[in-house]
Amino acid sequence: MRKRIVAGNWKMNTLPGEGVALAREIVGGKGTVCDCVSFIVCPPFTHLSEVAHALKGSGIALGAQNCAAEEQGAYTGEVSAAMLAALGCEYVILGHSERRQYYGETSATLRAKMERAYAHGLTPIYCVGENLAEREAGKHFDVVKRQIEEVVYGLTDEQFAKLVIAYEPVWAIGTGKTATADQAQEIHACIRKVLAAKFGAAADGTAILYGGSCKPGNAAELFAKEDVDGGLIGGAALKAEDFLAIGRNGFGK
Ligand code: 13P
Repeated sequence: MRKRIVAGNWKMNTLPGEGVALAREIVGGKGTVCDCVSFIVCPPFTHLSEVAHALKGSGIALGAQNCAAEEQGAYTGEVSAAMLAALGCEYVILGHSERRQYYGETSATLRAKMERAYAHGLTPIYCVGENLAEREAGKHFDVVKRQIEEVVYGLTDEQFAKLVIAYEPVWAIGTGKTATADQAQEIHACIRKVLAAKFGAAADGTAILYGGSCKPGNAAELFAKEDVDGGLIGGAALKAEDFLAIGRNGFGK
């Protein structure tokens, strides 16, 4: 049985006090969602420590939104995987389309970041997805295949066993346009095939999350699909009730 995950990517939102209040609300409502769901919250770096405290004992995991490609040293403004692990992070989002698009992250950078993450016991949530032009040109399968081959194929079997993938079509992020459940299933199945081509049957165990305007109203239909194992949630993760409702509607009470 694959893990069912509902992860919140808070992006550059919330001040520390607001983040702690949001985390507390999520902790308070977790009992209304099936125990089968693994919740993860990914706040900004600045309040990881305080949010870690608020999550203590709740079973909700903490993740970061990025980490440095280097181990340590003279890299002004960067945050290392070791620092994140020391604060209690279990996960780190890598390769989000906003990082690729606005900060020029390439497959080479992401390979290095992934190695750093694993070296410090963090589980990467590796994001892939095509933009609108690529979708319209029918290149979406090729794009995600390349994003996986260039970064994930370098992992050892042991590393791969822990990896989480998030498929996030760029055209659906923050736009209110969601991929249909059939579109999501089609590409999630393709991703699993690409993973299986390298890692064999282990790919059956990989959690592949959908992200992009996922809401309480569409979670049930999306998560009902065979190869959709949960969601990576942006906007709707900033409201505790919506975030919890995505888990509840998607996977039950
Ligand atoms: P939205 O849910 O706001 O579309 O964002 C999705 C996302 O980018 C999560 O990483």
